Amino acid sequence: MYNSKKITKYKDKEQNMSHFFNRQDELIGNTPILKIQSLSKLTGCNIFIKCESFNPGGSIKDRAAKQIIIDAIESKKLKPGMTIVEGTAGNTGIGLALVAKSLGYESIAVMPSGQAIEKERMIEFFGGTLKLVPPCPFANENHFFHTARRISEENPSKYFWANQFDNLSNFKAHFENTGPEIEKVFGKDLDYFICAAGTGGTIGGNTSYLKSKNSKIKTLLVDPKGSGLHSYLKSGEFISEGTSFTEGIGNMRLVENFKKAIIDDSISLDDQYLYTIAKYVSDHDGIKLGTSSALNVAGAFHTALSAKKGSNILTFMCDLAERSYSKMNNPDFLIEKGINFNKDIKDYL
Ligand SMILES: Cc1ncc(COP(=O)(O)O)c(C=O)c1O
Repeated sequence: MYNSKKITKYKDKEQNMSHFFNRQDELIGNTPILKIQSLSKLTGCNIFIKCESFNPGGSIKDRAAKQIIIDAIESKKLKPGMTIVEGTAGNTGIGLALVAKSLGYESIAVMPSGQAIEKERMIEFFGGTLKLVPPCPFANENHFFHTARRISEENPSKYFWANQFDNLSNFKAHFENTGPEIEKVFGKDLDYFICAAGTGGTIGGNTSYLKSKNSKIKTLLVDPKGSGLHSYLKSGEFISEGTSFTEGIGNMRLVENFKKAIIDDSISLDDQYLYTIAKYVSDHDGIKLGTSSALNVAGAFHTALSAKKGSNILTFMCDLAERSYSKMNNPDFLIEKGINFNKDIKDYL
């Protein structure tokens, strides 16, 4: 059971590397940074990925899950015996299941069907309970977000709603941990930071922290088709065009965590672009990317094309590529989505 005195905060993890850890959630954070040699050579910029797949639950969402649960325990909103419930595209559900088990709680993930099957399986594999709902627009009360909220509202003494979109513990996880980890490696030498957003916890926490330490850093959002965040940043309105097979990213509404982001510019890239870049990186470096990681790297590549040579550009490998295997490695699925396997990266130069 949870004991606040025994919790290893993210920042203590590195100091403890010569010791052993007591619980799995203590392994979250302090992820390694890898330079992508092929894209760096091609563009003349240094393109880096912070490998969040190294978290024990295999994604960047472990960080939000840990902070949300710790803050809820400390504020007594989450009491012993209660169950954590959350609406999720998958990775948050996996992170919550892992951290919940680690601290002696149960969890329920409400997930829209049609996400990669690997994520559904991992939620149950890590000890969470999976509740699938049909995908539907946010305005529909059966949307996964509303379903999770309702479960906790109907029985508040039994269920704690993690509420990753508006719960600022999500932002805090990145402001207090991921951002400082990046700064520790690059100091003031990071020129660009770019990533996609779902809840905005990642982009909110990191851009706020990195800008506070280095006002010259340029921060960018890379948005998939079908999301309105790009148009919101450009025009103030949520307008979506097209669709994307990426998961866990994009949004059509302004949520509290995204509001915290300090973003200089935004780009929108299609699935063909991210597929072509992911294939190039796989062929040349052997680095495998899931759908949202591929979009992030495509965004970093796109940024490099107009950046000064020698610029340092950082993005995230958000999760384990295995988690997107049934999409990124499925020719039938990709053909159905109109992907051209032979498109050359040089077409984008
Ligand atoms: C694989 C993946 N990448 C990126 C994100 C987006 O991160 P954030 O919710 O912090 O904006 C998510 C969110 O669930 C995700 O699952």
